[in-house]
Amino acid sequence: MHKPKDVAVITIDGPSGAGKGTISRIVAKKLGFHYLDSGALYRLLGLCSQRHHVSVTNVKSLAALAEHMDVEFKTTKSGEFTILLEGEDVTREVRTEETGALASQVAQYPEVREALLKRQRLFARAPGLVADGRDMGTVIFPDAPVKIYLTASAEERASRRYKELIAKGENVSLPALVEQVRSRDERDMTRESSPLRPAAGAINIDTSSLSIQEVTDTVLNLLTVKGFSTHS
Ligand code: C5P
Repeated sequence: MHKPKDVAVITIDGPSGAGKGTISRIVAKKLGFHYLDSGALYRLLGLCSQRHHVSVTNVKSLAALAEHMDVEFKTTKSGEFTILLEGEDVTREVRTEETGALASQVAQYPEVREALLKRQRLFARAPGLVADGRDMGTVIFPDAPVKIYLTASAEERASRRYKELIAKGENVSLPALVEQVRSRDERDMTRESSPLRPAAGAINIDTSSLSIQEVTDTVLNLLTVKGFSTHS
């Protein structure tokens, strides 16, 4: 058994930009559960490989980095998540489009995924975990009692990202973002090792025309029906 029996895991998988991160954080907070941002681990590996001049095709070295890289996820007193790589705050760098593209390249190798598997399962600690990613329900936590698959059209996901980047003052093109979203989907869904797909028994939620509040309410109602207490 890869996790203590009394640790409940809720998996939230789906393509990039479907709202997994936002929803998972809110749900984890409501339940008083831990949170695993598995995409951040792949992103950190992408960054780490660059810093150590390891090519994204050097599978053996990437797997070694994946196993040993020094990363830390912290929540500040004001509730903000911070991510440290080798002691340095890389919270912003981790979220760039470039790092996302790097992550999806290193994520295609089974050796890398295997090296990150154990690290991800260690996040399952009492009282419970909300795990966000691509293969949380299919591979990492196949026994999770609740599995959710969040999705949205590529246009809608690109448009959300566009608004976020414009608000940050970045100069981006919407058609280019739609293209990036499509090519990342293609790579994530067609790779041989743990491709992105809904887990058996996963509940599908299409967030294309839903607000964050509406998706949160849908997920929390579902969890209440499943017997979780979401009052904290
Ligand atoms: O979720 P996020 O956009 O941060 O993930 C970045 C990339 O990491 C994804 O496009 C995907 O290729 C990879 N990933 C993965 N398995 C996960 C989480 C992320 O392959 N569980």
